[in-house]
Amino acid sequence: MKKYKWLTVLIFISLALTLKLFTFSFQLNSRAEIPKEITTSSAIGQAQNKNNQSSTDTTLRSLAKERGISIGTAVQARPLREDDTYQEVLAREFNLVTPENAMKFGQLHSQRDRYDFTNPSTIVNFAQANHMQVYGHTLVWHNNLPDWLKKKEWSRQELSDILREHIYTVVSRFRGQIVVWDVVNEAIENDGSLRKTIWRQGIGPEYIEMAFRWAHKADPQAKLFYNDYNGEGLGKKSDAIYALVKDLQQRGVPIHGVGFQMHTRIKNPPNPQKVAANIQRLGELGLEVRITEMDVQIYDGKGTREEKLAAQAEVYREMLRVCLNAPNCKSFATWGFSDKYSWIPYFFDRPDSPLLFDESYRPKPAYNALVEELQGTSSSTNN
Ligand code: XIL
Repeated sequence: MKKYKWLTVLIFISLALTLKLFTFSFQLNSRAEIPKEITTSSAIGQAQNKNNQSSTDTTLRSLAKERGISIGTAVQARPLREDDTYQEVLAREFNLVTPENAMKFGQLHSQRDRYDFTNPSTIVNFAQANHMQVYGHTLVWHNNLPDWLKKKEWSRQELSDILREHIYTVVSRFRGQIVVWDVVNEAIENDGSLRKTIWRQGIGPEYIEMAFRWAHKADPQAKLFYNDYNGEGLGKKSDAIYALVKDLQQRGVPIHGVGFQMHTRIKNPPNPQKVAANIQRLGELGLEVRITEMDVQIYDGKGTREEKLAAQAEVYREMLRVCLNAPNCKSFATWGFSDKYSWIPYFFDRPDSPLLFDESYRPKPAYNALVEELQGTSSSTNN
């Protein structure tokens, strides 16, 4: 009997021990499991984030956001409808779009009593669906005017009525949807004189301030810009632009900034110090600056194609750097993004490759230079 008692006690003790050991190891495992699970899942989360980040983080768009500027491009309605890769690259890389032609007078208002908003609406809708801002271009220009307007003699009153109605109609149509309007485009000649346009001749030099006031009434939220080419650095033309906008501002005309088109060539690139000084003096007036239409022609540059593309990349890099270093420089936009649709070869009737992506949407050295500059990893010395 005693023997059995001891056996029972022994069995009981070993059972208890086994149970204890089992529970202990379960606890150990659980302790190990829980944090392991947390670590694992958070590691995956981070890796995924990291992956997501690294795939989106190296786009121009996400890098520019981190640097506090917008990165833009001109867009054409046709490839936006017909070319899937165009849409993809556009939405991936940019957060600001400028209709390249769709909002110009001749396009929108080709008959006196008829406006066609189909193309600009396509662009604005695409931009909104992809969380991009829209830069309106342009209300008053000497180019792209319809025949009905050009082919008749108008009185001063008639012409100012036409311009007012055009500005009210177009600006109100997109009220609240346009971050900046180029109100007046290219009103000054290279020698600094006021260009003799249909508006200047028919209304008088005051057409400029009238246009700004009308645009402001039609959309008080939109920033209103004067936009021009060859006025990026210091010289006769940029002095004249400076004097014009200073005068407008001092007389209370609603003007918020100056657009630097920045159509350039590797043979004769803008001087970064002079561009910086020009942006700074406009900033001292309280005005913003935006790089609005940058492209860099390579056709007459020196060297092999590879060398030309490298030189092109440096021009892009330098101008972006000037913009990043200036607190009043708010956006950096190129005039298109793929060489496939650049206006340069058509307009100047010679082959060229002025943009960031080649005709097959492969990023060029210029694209990589902008990425590096936005990341702050640029290897050039004065960064
Ligand atoms: C250009 C367009 O890119 C072309 O497609 C069109 O044929 C002519 O106009 N300055 C401007 C832009 O303000 O509107 C111009 O765009 C390029 C120069």
